[in-house]
Amino acid sequence: MHRNMDSRIRLPFLKERVTSAAKAAEWIQDGMTIGMSGFTRAGDAKVVPLALAERARHEKLKITLMTGASLGSDVDKTLTEAGVLARRIPFQADPVLRAAINRGEVMYVDQHLSETVELLRTRQMAPIDIAIIEAIAITESGAIIPTTSVGNSASFAILADKVIVEINLTQSLELEGLHDIFIPKHRPRREPMPLMTPYDRIGSTAIEIPPEKIVAIVFTEKLDSSSTILPPDLETAAIAAHLVNFFKEEVAQGRLSESLLPMQAGIGTIANAVMAGFIDSPFKRLTMYSEVLQDSTFDLFDAGKLDFASGSSITLSAEKSRQVFNDIGKYKDRLVLRPQEVSNHPEIIRRLGLIAINTALEADIYGNVNSTHVLGTHMMNGIGGSGDFARNAYLSVFATKSIAKGGKISSIVPMVSHVDHTEHDVDIIVTEVGLADLRGLAPRERADIIIDRCVAQPYRQMLQAYVARAKQRGGHTPHILEEALSWHTRYRDTGSMLTSQITPDIGSYEKSVSLSI
Ligand code: COA
Repeated sequence: MHRNMDSRIRLPFLKERVTSAAKAAEWIQDGMTIGMSGFTRAGDAKVVPLALAERARHEKLKITLMTGASLGSDVDKTLTEAGVLARRIPFQADPVLRAAINRGEVMYVDQHLSETVELLRTRQMAPIDIAIIEAIAITESGAIIPTTSVGNSASFAILADKVIVEINLTQSLELEGLHDIFIPKHRPRREPMPLMTPYDRIGSTAIEIPPEKIVAIVFTEKLDSSSTILPPDLETAAIAAHLVNFFKEEVAQGRLSESLLPMQAGIGTIANAVMAGFIDSPFKRLTMYSEVLQDSTFDLFDAGKLDFASGSSITLSAEKSRQVFNDIGKYKDRLVLRPQEVSNHPEIIRRLGLIAINTALEADIYGNVNSTHVLGTHMMNGIGGSGDFARNAYLSVFATKSIAKGGKISSIVPMVSHVDHTEHDVDIIVTEVGLADLRGLAPRERADIIIDRCVAQPYRQMLQAYVARAKQRGGHTPHILEEALSWHTRYRDTGSMLTSQITPDIGSYEKSVSLSI
């Protein structure tokens, strides 16, 4: 019997359900829908899915896998390689799975992260057969205390027929109390969510389910995978500096106070670097109402800039993870982790008046944003929560570097090759070149300011020429339709969006970035 059994499984009869990962995985049958914990590499079920992949080497086994968001521990990779994934919902960020999706082998449903459990609750998607949830412990009443993410875990456990719990012994029992589990009532008689500030706690600290639904418990000692973000660079520092200057002006104009409004920051290197840029800003007593809390959240706490952070997961680099989780008591009363349908809820986002900062792969001259599809067809990660936040925020910011792939791709194009966020949901576009404030502007005005402020040469000149010719054809949103996607097809055919007459001068581009900071 495990030495930690009493503190980790506090309801005695459940101790008999402790088993191996391989035995637990036997509950899963071909054709089932499995709901697993895990949100941006945090708090994911780690050993039962890998045992499932092992089983799939010897028998036909295909499942629909739903999670909160992306997974770590190579779970998506291993399940893909074992051929287990028929369908994957609602988000992923794994290169091997991404390739299988783009080959058409795995059916990927890229969903707004606030919506998945609403669809399940109303039986608009196939029901969950088994939930696999990582936990720090099971309480005296059989409630499950999650680890470093909440994501969709609570509703998966509530809606599933059976639940498998992975108790992770590397996660401290000090995490108990961090979570706030609130489940909205069924519609049409649903009441407003009683959350008025990022600090409010409106639910319970554990996932309450009938304990007899827990059919297997597995102990693990596998750490969460570290985040893969890169440190800030010249361009991301420039993007952050432009945003800080923009917010200083908003404060000067009396539209925001020096604590701004609650902030949401998207996933990835750019969003993390942008938030880190607020460390040296004049703003004080900031709050976050976000989805993923990255390294920058804790840097802002340590710098005394941030008062409180609400999220659905904590995803950190290896070094930051050691620092934060070895000293979680220092941060715990300034943190809360919520289900993703609460962290990303349109009602709350609109009520709190969030400043939402997300990342674009590309934006077009009118302000439409593509965050998901490389060159229009190939899935990168997914829309994640960016749509939940962008549409409902007080201010919706999209950041991107102005060029990708060494200058061969312009991230500002005549027309985006796929639309995730329409021009109606985008207030600010910011690149290392500068910031375009699109509020209150008509399409023709938007095009001029985006090209002027956000695009470096030689693409700026190319876009100016495109717009001038498009305007001659007229229209509210002028385009030369037969040319609108020619930048993408040129890249496909020649390896560059530049025309053969223009070669990129990256040396002078780098100089202009450092001058713009
Ligand atoms: N065309 C093709 N590829 C592009 C591109 C473009 N216009 N712009 C960037 N890329 C490539 C980069 O070259 C890089 O490729 P690599 O991994 O091969 O080096 C990759 O996209 C990531 O770009 P990077 O500049 O490093 O940005 P990032 O790490 O900040 O990620 C997104 C950017 C858009 C991929 C990421 O933020 C995302 O998946 N967003 C959608 C989901 C989301 O916003 N969730 C948050 C809601 S809370």
